[in-house]
Formats: sequence, C-alpha cells, structure tokens
Amino acid sequence: MVRRRIPRPRELRPYLRTGPLHLSPVDRRLASAATIRDLRAIARRRVPRAVFDYTDGAAETETSLRRSRAAYARVEFVPHVLRDVSVVDTTTTILGHRSTLPLVFAPTGFTRLMNHEGEPAVAAVAARMGIPYALSTLGTTSPEDLAAVAPDTNKWFQLYIWNDRETVRALVRRARAAGFTALILTVDTPVAGSRLRDVHNGFTIPPTLSARTVFDIALHPGWWFNLLSTEPLQFAVFSETDGTVAELIDRVFDPTITVADLGWIRDDWEGPIVVKGIQTVDDARLVVDAGADAIVVSNHGGRQLDRAPTPLEQLPSIVAAVGERAEVYVDGGILSGGDIVAAVASGARAALVGRAYLYGLMAGGERGVQRAADILRTEFIRTMRLLGARSLAELGPDRVRMRDTTEP
Ligand SMILES: Cc1cc2nc3c(=O)[nH]c(=O)nc-3n(C[C@H](O)[C@H](O)[C@H](O)COP(=O)(O)O)c2cc1C
Repeated sequence: MVRRRIPRPRELRPYLRTGPLHLSPVDRRLASAATIRDLRAIARRRVPRAVFDYTDGAAETETSLRRSRAAYARVEFVPHVLRDVSVVDTTTTILGHRSTLPLVFAPTGFTRLMNHEGEPAVAAVAARMGIPYALSTLGTTSPEDLAAVAPDTNKWFQLYIWNDRETVRALVRRARAAGFTALILTVDTPVAGSRLRDVHNGFTIPPTLSARTVFDIALHPGWWFNLLSTEPLQFAVFSETDGTVAELIDRVFDPTITVADLGWIRDDWEGPIVVKGIQTVDDARLVVDAGADAIVVSNHGGRQLDRAPTPLEQLPSIVAAVGERAEVYVDGGILSGGDIVAAVASGARAALVGRAYLYGLMAGGERGVQRAADILRTEFIRTMRLLGARSLAELGPDRVRMRDTTEP
C-alpha cells in the first residue's frame, strides 16, 4: 500500500519553475514554435489568406512540391555510434566564401508582402548566421537599398532575363557595383507556372480591395496597418506591376533565352554565376560546359512545372556528372535541419531554403526569420551528432539510403 503524506513547501519549488518570461506577444508566439511546421501554423494565422497561399502554394496539383517533401521522408540515415561528437564543425565554403552552415536563403520575390520588414530582415539574419542570401529580381527592396542596410551580408543577386536586355545588363552592373558577390540566374521560368491558389484567391499585386479583402482587413488588422503605413509595396526594379504575378512574368520575361545568353552575362559580371532550376544531368552538363560556376538542382519549390523531377532524387546523378567542375546545390521541400543533412549527404555542397524562412517572416518579421534559422541550425547540429558525423566531410553518401516508400 502507498503511504501518503503532505509535501513540505520547499519540495514544491522545483515544480513551480517557469521558462523564460517573454513580454512581447511576438516573442511568446515564436518561442512556442519548436519546428518550421510550427512556424508555418503561426504564419497561417498572422497574414491574410491570399498572402499565405501565395507563399505556401505551388503550381497546379502541387505534386512537384509534395514529392520534393516526401523524398526527404524517404531518407534513412546510417549512424555511426561511439564517436566523440562533443564538437561538430558545420562550416564550409560556398563559392570561396566561408559559411557557417551549408545553407543559403533562396531568392523569393515580393518579400515585403509577407511582412513589412521584408528583404532587410532576411539579410540581417543571414549576416548573423554567417550564410549567403539571394535577393530576387522580383524583390521589394532594390540592390542598392539592401546593400546599404545589410553591408555585412554575403549577398547574391538572382536574375531573371526579360525582354529589355539593356535594362537587364544595367541591373547586373548595379548589383556588381552594390557589392553582390554572386549572380544566380533562374532558368526554370520561361513562362509563369499556374499557381491555382492565387487564381482562386484573385491574388494581385498590389493587393486589391474586394469585398473579401475588406473582410480580411478585419481579421488581420496588424498586417494591413503595416502594409499601409510603410513604403508602398512594389517591385523594386520593375515599374509595370499591376496585375497578377503570372501576368507580370508572362508580359515581361523572355521565353527565347538559351544557354548562349550566359555569354553576354559573363561580359557584365566578373564574379561567379550560379544557374538555378537545373533538373536533369544533360542540362547540368550544358550549363557547366557554358561556364556556370555552380548550379541549383531545383524545380522552383514546385511553383513552375508540376510533376517535375524531384530535386533530392536527381541530385546524386547530377553531382556525379558535374560535381568535379561546379558546386552543386539543391532546393525544394526542405523543412528541417535533418533535411539539410540529408541533402549534404546526398552530394549537395549546400541547400537553399525559401518557404522555411518565409514562414518565420510571416510569423514574426526579422525575429521570426531568426527563429527559423535557429531551428534549422539546432536540428542540423543535433542530427550530425546523432549520426556521429563531426564535420561535413563525414557526411558522405554512405550516410543515407533511400527507402522505397514513405511508410514507416
Ligand atoms: C514565395 C516565393 C517566391 C519565390 N520567388 C522566387 C524568385 O523571385 N526567384 C527565384 O529564382 N525563385 C523564387 N522562388 C523559389 C525559391 O528560390 C526556391 O527555389 C524555393 O522556394 C525552394 O523551395 P522551398 O520553398 O520548399 O524551400 C520563390 C519561392 C517562394 C516560396
């Protein structure tokens, strides 16, 4: 029989210890997020539905995106035990620059839509983390303005080629003058993908006032207040912006570009060129033969071609084909530090993430991006330790197997 007694007051003390006290509601919200998926759930409540859907969504049936994520779930790690993992080194070099993690914040258009702090917030976190950040051609902050507020960030400039080549060349020169260290040319967007959530939401840039939008203002007054009380939301390097993103892409972007265009870009850009949106071995060879210094195996986070090749699955054969001559990165579907470990073990020099930091941005501006970065870093280091890998050199292909299904 259990004998009962009355506890002494001092015995209660250990049970009454509270966690750190967060006074600001934003900090409280962010502290409650343990994963990127948690940040996504917070983001969903914080911003208008059309904004969340623009960020979260992908093209057509969203099969490309679902498969990209499912591929990470198929990974089975091969751990080595009894290694001293008290210290793990996560540093690498990316295009000759030291990076504290094999991670790059991917270019994402229209970032100030997600939160008014926009690109400068993302760049500030990248600087603090010691990783590169790519500003999009469709950004809402100009290269010069970003350089002014983020002098310490290793900044890449993402280029789309559009009809007016002279303006494109001028933009490349502007990025160079502003101190950007790499040019990242996106080649999977000859026309806009069909993002059906945007179509259904009637999503336009700038957001237009329909009956539904007015209702939405009542639900998200903070987001609307920030939108209307800061610099007008517009593309930083485009003047013609009215309409949907798809209309802009189709009106302005040039579907005639070929690999020969890399030639004239070289004339205006002396630094490294990264080609983003490579999905096959043949195309990887094509652009590396044409002088690309690095490639991103990517299907644009599933936002362009639906049922596209799955980046993580394409990665090993592409690394085998061109990995000696160019750096190979991968993106699409990465939602945890363990996913980044899987990408590196599968041959990527680094992984890019888009939505992972955008969920943080929507959830809480710069502090939200920082939370996302901290989550990814903590998970990355923990996974390396559990794998018995003390440096990135120990994260080879022998550390991952692909299971046939996503079943447990
Ligand atoms: C909201 C959003 C906007 C994007 N805008 C661009 C862009 O302007 N240029 C570009 O090259 N890629 C763009 N991308 C694609 C990302 O660079 C990256 O390839 C993709 O987000 C990776 O998938 P993930 O979001 O699952 O990490 C965008 C992605 C998102 C989610």
